[in-house]
Amino acid sequence: MTILITGATGNVGRHLVQLLHAGGHPVRALTRDPAAADLPAGVDVRAGDFTDLASLEAALECVTALHLLTTFGPGNTTIPNSRDLVAAAVKAGVQRVTLLWNGYAGPVEEAVEDSELQYTHLRPGEFMSNALTWAETIRTEGVVREAYGEIGHSPVDVRDIADVAALALTEDGHAGQAYILTGPEVLTAPQQVAAIADAIGRDVRYEAEDREGAKARMRAMGIEEQAIDYVLDWRAAPPEFASKVFTTVADVTGRPARTFAAWARDHADSFR
Ligand SMILES: NC(=O)c1ccc[n+]([C@@H]2O[C@H](COP(=O)([O-])OP(=O)(O)OC[C@H]3O[C@@H](n4cnc5c(N)ncnc54)[C@H](OP(=O)(O)O)[C@@H]3O)[C@@H](O)[C@H]2O)c1
Repeated sequence: MTILITGATGNVGRHLVQLLHAGGHPVRALTRDPAAADLPAGVDVRAGDFTDLASLEAALECVTALHLLTTFGPGNTTIPNSRDLVAAAVKAGVQRVTLLWNGYAGPVEEAVEDSELQYTHLRPGEFMSNALTWAETIRTEGVVREAYGEIGHSPVDVRDIADVAALALTEDGHAGQAYILTGPEVLTAPQQVAAIADAIGRDVRYEAEDREGAKARMRAMGIEEQAIDYVLDWRAAPPEFASKVFTTVADVTGRPARTFAAWARDHADSFR
């Protein structure tokens, strides 16, 4: 009855591991560096890499439910050999899979849909936690620079994504669903900045940035060129769903989606 979480040290995965472990489920966490993973005691932390199929096959042993990223790394690389990975999952005895997309359905989704696995698509828009990229300039200069900030999004709290994933991995009724996951309101970047300012009790200025300025800033953060263009194109012209509010989080969990104001309060120390 082991549940394997890929991306276990990431924004969504870390919450998902904690949630399932706290709920008494046997959890296995995949990471390239178990020594640095810093996951709760009792979690079975395994070394594995999406580029090394054998390491994934080993991690899948005795696994009955799988949370799978579809892309990884600073270039948002699509997980390779997805048909072999899916075959290995079926062979291992996996039944339920949650698939966390990166804004589009690609070969990993297709491979899973063509299999006998019971899959649930998790289709979030922008994560609230992307605002953590503003933390350094808020702390040092009291400013946020962002491109296309006037375009509204409905960012979702990664804890809500993890809550939905945990239910889809552990209970019936979610197979075949494609859950679009958003927050409870559409916000512009200046509105998000105002919520952070409220949370930390300090003025924070918003400065509109042009595309080249945003690219230079993101390159300095180590993000690869292809991923930079993807993010900026998304921000400039978000897919329709990403700037609407969907009630999926509330429908699935039975409680309202977390607000950005609550997220900002919970992460205030990162901005101080
Ligand atoms: N940010 C957004 O707004 C947004 C919106 C929609 C979807 N997404 C997508 O959601 C997914 C999860 O994002 P996240 O923010 O939770 O993750 P994250 O914080 O960016 O962490 C990335 C995770 O991927 C793992 N990873 C990286 N390279 C790997 C490799 N070669 N083999 C195995 N694991 C590898 C890392 O594990 P180790 O370093 O421990 O190995 C880490 O756990 C990503 O695919 C992202 O593109 C993001």
